[in-house]
Amino acid sequence: MSTTSAAKHPKGLYVLFFTEMWERFGYYLMLGIFSLYMIDGWESGGMGFDSLKKSDIYGTYLGLVYLTPFIGGLLADRILGFRRSILIGGLLMAAGYLTLAVHDATAFYVGLLLIILGNGMFKPNISTLVGNLYSDDRYRANKDAGYNIFYMGINIGAFVCNFVAAYMQIKYGWGYAFAAAGIGMLIGVIVFISGNKHIKEADVIKPLQPGDMGTGKILLSTIVPMFVFGILGYLIPGNLLGTDTNDAFIFGCIPVVAFFIYLYVSANEEDKRPIGALLAVFGCLVIFWAVFHQNGDALTVFAKDHTDREMPLAISNVADNMNMAETVTNNGANTDANSAQYFETLAPENVPAEGGSMKLYSTQLYQSINPGWVILLTPLIVALWAFMRGRKKEPTTPTKIAIGLVITALSALVMVGAVLATNNLESKASSWWLIASYGVITFGELCLSPMGLSLVSKLSPPPPSATSSVACSAACGKVLRTRPTSST
Ligand code: ALA
Repeated sequence: MSTTSAAKHPKGLYVLFFTEMWERFGYYLMLGIFSLYMIDGWESGGMGFDSLKKSDIYGTYLGLVYLTPFIGGLLADRILGFRRSILIGGLLMAAGYLTLAVHDATAFYVGLLLIILGNGMFKPNISTLVGNLYSDDRYRANKDAGYNIFYMGINIGAFVCNFVAAYMQIKYGWGYAFAAAGIGMLIGVIVFISGNKHIKEADVIKPLQPGDMGTGKILLSTIVPMFVFGILGYLIPGNLLGTDTNDAFIFGCIPVVAFFIYLYVSANEEDKRPIGALLAVFGCLVIFWAVFHQNGDALTVFAKDHTDREMPLAISNVADNMNMAETVTNNGANTDANSAQYFETLAPENVPAEGGSMKLYSTQLYQSINPGWVILLTPLIVALWAFMRGRKKEPTTPTKIAIGLVITALSALVMVGAVLATNNLESKASSWWLIASYGVITFGELCLSPMGLSLVSKLSPPPPSATSSVACSAACGKVLRTRPTSST
């Protein structure tokens, strides 16, 4: 962790910042167009799925994306080390995005599987490396700030990617947009390899301590039962929770949840408190991210079909020249499906005359609103906490997390207002509804998410390489994350 003694943050933080920025560029680019790609007709380059199947795949994909860190964290912690795991994960994800670029049903599922496996190897381990960089006494006190900076990297990547996706998709088609995600991930891998010397000291494989559960035993008592329960859930006649995959998923979670309860119950008195605190944080993160991830499904559908996306003339002229505007055209009886769907809830007087067209903001651009808010609000929130600290009134981390959850719930209420404004989806809502709802949830996110990352890292038992709890947090906290929504 070479750096000058005056530096507040280790140099490795900036390597991880840019690696994660590019990784999230690819991840959120794919997520921003995922639902849209699935419901677009096969002839127009999409998968041609109906809305229910789209939601089912979206929820299952996300659930698995947040389940595999359980395995990836464990492997890194015990066997592979963090750097090697991150490298493998990055390459797998890049391969997944590039496979999605091929318009083919098999390639679609293979691509998703590669991303799911890659994310498991990448995501928990890069967050853990950030924490490990701060185990050096020179930086220890700046860990929270370090996670805030890292969080900014995530959101810069998440903000920019949708503009690239819009350009690629409008000018060249879906495949090129997915390929851009793959290229972004590969840039992240190159950044990571180039900065190796600044992070290698943080990559410590923790030797098993007496009393630690063996890797094989953990896998046997969680992963194997998880698959067995999952298959049982899938096979039970009928559906308890809407679809077979919902049943499989919830059943599959039972052994993992039981494992965490066992960890708590069997811990000695000294460990009980931090483990209990970790589990409480996971519980809060589950709720937050479950609400948050409606952005790629229900909120994307709301943006696409129920939001007034028309660009003002001044913007549309520029955006059109840059291939950033979506065009809908009224061709009478021959109007294409996408345009017809947009016109369906548009006030008749606003529908262009036959032969005329309108320029719209691309739906995926609405996915940039949340990271945009993160970039704008982070300095304000950091200043707010500093101001309150000065007055000895700064809330504790658990209080911030609780406040974050309440605010998250309010964001859903904003969308209730949006639906009422459309007269129950009969007309279009102003884009301001989505901007406001994302603003509210982002405020909640900033109260809990960076704090959660840092807290998990602090509560994990030393030495700093003891990260299975972080990996577990990713898995446990996110395993129940997103279930399919019935889209509007
Ligand atoms: N705000 C989202 C995240 O940090 C993009 O993951």
